[in-house]
Amino acid sequence: MAYDKSALSLAVSARGVDKSFGRIKVLDDLTVDIPRGVTYCLLGPNGSGKTTFIRAIVGMLKLDGGDLRVLDQPVSEVQSIYSRIGYMTQHKALYPDLTLQENLEFFAGLYSIEKQEREPRITKLLDMVNLLEHRHRLAGDLSGGMYQRLSLACTLIHEPELLLLDEPTVGVDPRLRQTFWNYFDRLTAEGKTVLITTHLMDEAEKCKTVGYMRAGRMTAVGSPDEIKRLAGLKPHLELWLKEPEKDAARLKDAGYEIDEVDIAKGVVRIRLQSHDQIKGLLENVAPLDMRLKEPTLEEAFLRLSEAA
Ligand SMILES: Nc1ncnc2c1ncn2[C@@H]1O[C@H](COP(=O)(O)OP(=O)(O)O)[C@@H](O)[C@H]1O
Ligand SMILES: [Mg+2]
Repeated sequence: MAYDKSALSLAVSARGVDKSFGRIKVLDDLTVDIPRGVTYCLLGPNGSGKTTFIRAIVGMLKLDGGDLRVLDQPVSEVQSIYSRIGYMTQHKALYPDLTLQENLEFFAGLYSIEKQEREPRITKLLDMVNLLEHRHRLAGDLSGGMYQRLSLACTLIHEPELLLLDEPTVGVDPRLRQTFWNYFDRLTAEGKTVLITTHLMDEAEKCKTVGYMRAGRMTAVGSPDEIKRLAGLKPHLELWLKEPEKDAARLKDAGYEIDEVDIAKGVVRIRLQSHDQIKGLLENVAPLDMRLKEPTLEEAFLRLSEAA
């Protein structure tokens, strides 16, 4: 198999990957490059193949076709680099009869982490996920959100280069989610890669790159802002004007795209091509008030789901 040399600096590189379950094609000619050192979000409706793709990356699936490379290794060899990968599944994978501390010690042992290294790492991770005071409780007694946090800590114990997190923040409250994200940013700053699936738009918004999956294919890839542009969404400016009709006509003549004029409220909505247009626009009219409305990733996601 011939591989592109440029793929050498990628965390994951998929070329034309196919996988069917029975007659259902779950990964359909999937091609994507996931660079190292970034947070990369797999976004897409339920059943679009996100979990299947992650399972393919860890070599849990026999592919029907295509090339898949993980940390520069063909996926057939991925077992030899398991120590460089951390995988947090969507399902419970810890030992309910072990305490938090014991679960972490178990994973530390599995990855042959030196004895003197174990305790400081375990303490640091339990602190990061805000579970230090619960270290002697049984994992089986934890609430959903606490369990997720422990799962994350166990996934990080061997300081993996590539983190695969399948919906890691389900049941985690927004403040702690922020802590997770700060931690992910620290990891990527060290050159590690965080591949994450989520349904939460605000999380996708925090990723450097979002890959939008639909029916087993990558249909849109880019930064959150680029995805919005791909979906054809533009920022809007709402202007409160004394003479909305007259001003709207003047703005139209000056080349601005008028979306809506609400005479009763005195509001004119302009669709901006770029933020740079605002300055020139204010040379044409003097609004009483104005509000900039940025498109959301959610709108882009809906728009992309409707298309195709
Ligand atoms: N082991 C399997 N056997 C049969 N069908 C499966 C299996 N795993 C996943 N699927 C199907 O593949 C599709 C994609 O699933 P999945 O990758 O879990 O999507 P997502 O994670 O995006 O929600 C779904 O229709 C699911 O039912
Ligand atoms: Mg899934």
